[in-house]
Amino acid sequence: MTMKSQGSQAENRKAQMEKQNKEITETLRHIKNKILVMSGKGGVGKSSVAAYLSVALAKKGFRVGLMDVDLHGPSIPRILGLKGRLGFGGNDKKMLPINYLPNMEVISIETLMGENKDAATIWRGPLKIGAIRQFISDIDWMELDYLVIDSPPGTGDEPLTVAQTIPDAKALIVTTPQEVSLADVRKSINFCRQVKMDILGLVENMSGLKCPYCGKLIEVFKTQGGEVTAQKEGLRLLAKLPLELEVVKEGDAGDISLLDNQALLITQEFNKMVAEIMKLTDTKASSAGHGNKDLAGRKTGTG
Ligand SMILES: Nc1ncnc2c1ncn2[C@@H]1O[C@H](COP(=O)(O)OP(=O)(O)OP(=O)(O)O)[C@@H](O)[C@H]1O
Ligand SMILES: [Mg+2]
Repeated sequence: MTMKSQGSQAENRKAQMEKQNKEITETLRHIKNKILVMSGKGGVGKSSVAAYLSVALAKKGFRVGLMDVDLHGPSIPRILGLKGRLGFGGNDKKMLPINYLPNMEVISIETLMGENKDAATIWRGPLKIGAIRQFISDIDWMELDYLVIDSPPGTGDEPLTVAQTIPDAKALIVTTPQEVSLADVRKSINFCRQVKMDILGLVENMSGLKCPYCGKLIEVFKTQGGEVTAQKEGLRLLAKLPLELEVVKEGDAGDISLLDNQALLITQEFNKMVAEIMKLTDTKASSAGHGNKDLAGRKTGTG
C-alpha cells in the first residue's frame, strides 16, 4: 500500500468518526436521562432490574428506550419475550428499534442477529466499541425521557464505551449482599469515580428470601451488605429487593406482569425505587402520558 493511499484511508476514517460523533451528539440531545445499570459481578440481576425499570417508567407514561450493550450474553430479549427484528425506514435511513410498548423501544444485539439466538459472538474490543456507538448513531430512537442501558458485568469495554460516549449517563449499581459481591461492587464504584460518572445509587438485589412455609426471612446471600457499602461510600441505597421465585419464572418466560402484583414485597420495593429514581432525575420530561405530542414522538430529521 502506498503512503498516499494509507494517508487518504486515515483521512476517510477520521471523517467517518467525525460524522458519527455528530450523529451521536444529535441523538443524545433528544434523550433527557441516561441510566447505566452495572455491577461488578455477574448474575446479580442487572438485566432484570434494567428491564423492570424500563417497563415501570414506561407505565408511568414516560418515553423509554432500553439499550442492551451486553453483546456476548444479551438477556433483555428473553426477559421481555421480545420477538421481531429491527425495522428499516427511520429518519435518514436509520434502523428502527423494536417497539415493545407504544412508548418504549428496545435494542439488543440479538434483535440484529435474527434467528440463531445461541450463536456465540466473538467480538474484540474495537468491534464492541463500534457496535455500541452504532446503537446510538445509527438507530432512530424517538425523543426519550429515559434511556436505560443494560451492561455486562465488570468494568470492561462496554461500560467504558458508554461512559465515554454518553458523558451525562448516571450509574445504577446492582449488587447482592455478600462480601464476594461487595468486593466487586467497590470496583464499579471506583470505575465511576475514575470516569467521572455520577452514581444514582446502589440496589441490593437477592436480599433475603421469605420462606413460603413459615414466612421467616432466609438470608441466602446475607443481607445488609449493600446498605453498609452504601453508607461507607456515601451513596444512596435505592432498594433492597428480596429473592422472589416469580422473578426466575417470569424471566424465563418473557413475562413481566410481576410489576403489577402489589402483593409481592419485591414489587412494593421496586416501585419505591422507581419513585426515588424519578425524584433524582429530570421528570419535567415530555412524558407521553401527559398528553402532549403524538405518542411515538419520533424526532423529525437529524443533524
Ligand atoms: N430478586 C430476584 N429474585 C429471584 N431471582 C432473581 C432476582 N433477580 C434476578 N433473578 C434471577 O437471577 C438470574 C440472573 O439475573 P439477571 O440475568 O438479571 O442478572 P445479570 O446481572 O444481568 O446477569 P449477567 O451478569 O449474566 O448479565 C435470572 O434467572 C433472574 O431471573
Ligand atoms: Mg445481564
